[in-house]
Formats: sequence, structure tokens, C-alpha cells
Amino acid sequence: MIRILIIIIIINFCSALNYSEDISPIIYNNCTSCHRVNEIGAFLPLTNYSEVNENKYWIAYAIEGTDDRHGDPVMPPWPPDRSFSTFIDERYLTDQQVHDFLDWIDLGAPQGDPVLEAEMPDFPDGSSIGEPDVVFELEEPYFIEGNGEDNYRCFVIPTGFSEDKEIAAIEFRPDNKEAVHHSIITVVPSGYANNIDNEDSEYGYECYGGFNLDILTPLVEGYAPGMRTSLYPEGIGDVIPANSDLIVQMHYAPLDTDQIDQSSINIFFKDEPIERYIQNQQYANPFFLLPPNVITEVRDSIEVTADVSLIQILPHSHLLGKSWEIYAVTPENDTTQIIKINNWDFDWQSFYTPEYMIPLPQGSMIYANAVYDNTADNPDNPNNPPQWTFWGDGTEDEMFFIAFRFVPYQDGDENIYLGDEEELGDVNQDGTIDVLDIVTIVQFVLNFSTPTDSQFELSDINQDEVLDVLDIVHLVGIILN
Ligand code: HEC
Repeated sequence: MIRILIIIIIINFCSALNYSEDISPIIYNNCTSCHRVNEIGAFLPLTNYSEVNENKYWIAYAIEGTDDRHGDPVMPPWPPDRSFSTFIDERYLTDQQVHDFLDWIDLGAPQGDPVLEAEMPDFPDGSSIGEPDVVFELEEPYFIEGNGEDNYRCFVIPTGFSEDKEIAAIEFRPDNKEAVHHSIITVVPSGYANNIDNEDSEYGYECYGGFNLDILTPLVEGYAPGMRTSLYPEGIGDVIPANSDLIVQMHYAPLDTDQIDQSSINIFFKDEPIERYIQNQQYANPFFLLPPNVITEVRDSIEVTADVSLIQILPHSHLLGKSWEIYAVTPENDTTQIIKINNWDFDWQSFYTPEYMIPLPQGSMIYANAVYDNTADNPDNPNNPPQWTFWGDGTEDEMFFIAFRFVPYQDGDENIYLGDEEELGDVNQDGTIDVLDIVTIVQFVLNFSTPTDSQFELSDINQDEVLDVLDIVHLVGIILN
């Protein structure tokens, strides 16, 4: 093994930064899933040397954190502050990766030996879970005009279920991935949205910040590009009641050409009985006023009335929204940081799943603060000049809304990992955890090579957000076990 390491060291010292060896893995593993043909980032394909080289300054701008964004980069898109709390499937470049990219530009962006270029990862096209039990497709293809504008549309999908169905996962599958920016799904009693649906002569009906209904309905799933759905852990599940409709709200990104979308929703039934049902709690505070030309902070608190474990959260505001911070304080005065978003972006919202369930004992208070920028300096402000703004569903209205998903608390919940735990340690993804994985982590720890996001996650065995010798010790322990 020492010999292998020495060879690796020699190789690493001999080669200067170049695209093939150093930059292509950064781009292909963190950017290309979206930045290629037929995907949401198709306007800027990043699939080979010349595409990356031609756009290197644009990329450099996007991956560097800027002061006006509190140090957060524009790309890859990941709104939550990673120093505040940790979620599964986080997207980010490490500082080292950003430095390598900038240094590579300084060196004149050399290509290196094309033979050594990183392999393009597999971009799975189908379900991230497996074979669904039921697939609901939009009843007809929806025509999206290529007018360069956002388009928000709700579609009613009757389930036809005549009995309650126990659900292991609801997975949204975008059809036109260049067009679908994000979606949210709710469940309503059959026919509940028929009036509003029938008023609109085209398929579906217009809706922006929600489903345009007169009640708050449970948000059962959300989708944003690159987010994977996973099955609920053992014994945990959700129910779609008999005689209900699903409503999916689609946000179609601005397009230059006319296009068609016919997305679908995969339903996975639960194999084993559910012991703990997922509870969907929506919290809305409609009582705020946002005066023009002012930045306003809305602060609120919510009491937790039973022992629960939080499994997902989705904060939501519209275009004046600037930031969010949500944390809980237990009756013993312990603080749990839940989510912080420094640069709220309506385009990149979704349910966030913590790595481990977050226990919230009865009597805890959840504090939620949202900031709204209703000045002319906010480039997203829908009103020019700024206007008084209140709660509402429309683009020019605002919201203070949080969707929580939780289950009744059980001992040990804080140790239930909500990602794909069995992979932890299998850094080279060959299906076994062995000495080869140790060699790979050693290289990361010694800075001989740079882990991709997912390699970082899989190497961070003790889940403390740094790769160091402790992870190697942990992994050796797992292998010897
Ligand atoms: C999950 C999908 C996704 C991933 C991953 C992603 N992008 Fe993007 N990118 C987009 C979309 C969509 C836009 C258009 C702007 C927007 O919607 O935020 C964009 C915009 C950009 C822009 C233009 C930004 C501007 O403000 O002008 C650049 C440059 C860029 N991406 C580079 C990258 C790089 C480099 C990576 C990897 C480090 C990356 N992107 C990862 C989807 C993605």
C-alpha cells in the first residue's frame, strides 16, 4: 500500500493543473447533470474542454462566493447555509475545487492530455427508487410558449383510489427537463379544484405561489432539478386518502422556443405496515405588511405540542423574500439549528431533508425569521416603484409559509439517517467497503486528489463535515468489524 501511495504522490507532483486531470472531474461531477442538452441548464452545456474553456470566466464568476451573496456562490445552486445545518444531497464545490479552477485559469487554462479526462458520470434517467406501483401522467401534453417568461401552472390529477393507500414515496418525474424548474404536489378531496380548473379554457389552471385554493392543503412532495426522492425509512409512511386528487404545481422556466411537457408522478406503495404516519404541518402567517422602500423582518414562533421528529422542511416566500432562519429551542433551552437561507431564491426552493431526524420535544419553540426586501434595489421586486405588499397567492403578493413533515418521536430517532446510509464508506462506489476505499480517503485527506461532493459525503464517515484521519480510523473500524 505504501508503494501505491508513493506512486500516487509522484504522479500528483509531476502534473501541473490541467483540464483533463483536475478540472473535468470537478465540472462533470458537479455541473454537467444540469448543464447539458435537454436539461434545465442546457443554455450553457459544460460537457467538454472547449465548452468549459470558452465559458471559464462566466463559470469563475458563478462558483466564487460574492460579498453581496454573503459569500455564497451562485452555482452549483444550493440555497441553505451549510455552516448552519446539514441536509442530504447537498450541492457545493469545496474551497479547494474553486481555487483549482481559478488557478487553472491563471495558468492559461491548459487542456492537458485528453486521454486522462474524467469519465462522464452516469446520469440516471428513470426513477431514483425503482419500479413504481402506479404512474400518473399529466392527462395531456401541455404546450409551453417560447416567450422567454416564467410560467406557473397547476394540473389536477385524479387518483381513482377507492381506498386509502399507504405510501412509501411520491416521486415527481419531469418530462421536459429543460422546461421544468420546480414543482410541488398536494392532495385534495376529489373535485375540490374543479371550479378553478374549469374556468381556465386550456389544460390546467394558472397558479403562482401555491395551488390557488381557499384552504391550505398538505404539501406531500416537491421537486427541483437534481433532487432525489427516497423511500421513507422502515415503519414510516404517508397516506393518500380514498377519493382524492393530486394537484401538481409546475414552474416552467423561461424558454426561447415553443415546447411540450407531459410530466408524471410515480407512486410507491408501502411493503410493510406503517407504524408511524407522516404528519404534514403547514404554518402560514398572513398578518404581515411590507411597506414600500423598506426591508422588513417578520419574526414568528410556533409551539411544538407533542414529541416529534422532524424529517423535512420547506420554507417559502416570493420575490421580495431575501432570507430565512429557522431554529428550535427546547424546554431545557437547547438550541437546534434547522435551516438558514442567506439568499432566498424563488427559483430554487424545495423540501430539505436533514441527514438525521431532528427530535423536537413537546414544549419546544420553533423560531422563524424571514426578511423581505421591498426596495427598488431588489432586482426581483415585481413592482416598480415598490408598493405596499401583503399575503397572497400572486406574483406581486408575498408569503410567510413553512411546510413541516414529521413523525411522532421514538427513542433513537436522532440516529436514523435519512440518506442512503449503506453507501457510507464505499467511496469508490464499487459496492464493497474495503482497503481501496481507505486508499481513496487517504488521498483526499493528504490533498493528493479532490473529492467530488458525493465522494466527500461518502468519505466523511463520522459526519463531522471535515475529511481527516478520524474518518480513516472510523472506516478501518468498520472494515475490521
Ligand atoms: C441542479 C442544476 C444545476 C447544477 C447542478 C448547476 N447548474 Fe448552473 N445553472 C442552472 C440553471 C437552471 C441556471 C440558470 C439560472 C438559474 O436558474 O439559477 C444556471 C446558471 C449558471 C450560470 C450562469 C449564472 C449567471 O448568473 O449568469 C453559470 C455560469 C453556471 N450555471 C455554471 C455552473 C457550474 C460551473 C456548475 C457546477 C459547479 C453548475 N452551474 C451547476 C442549473 C444548474
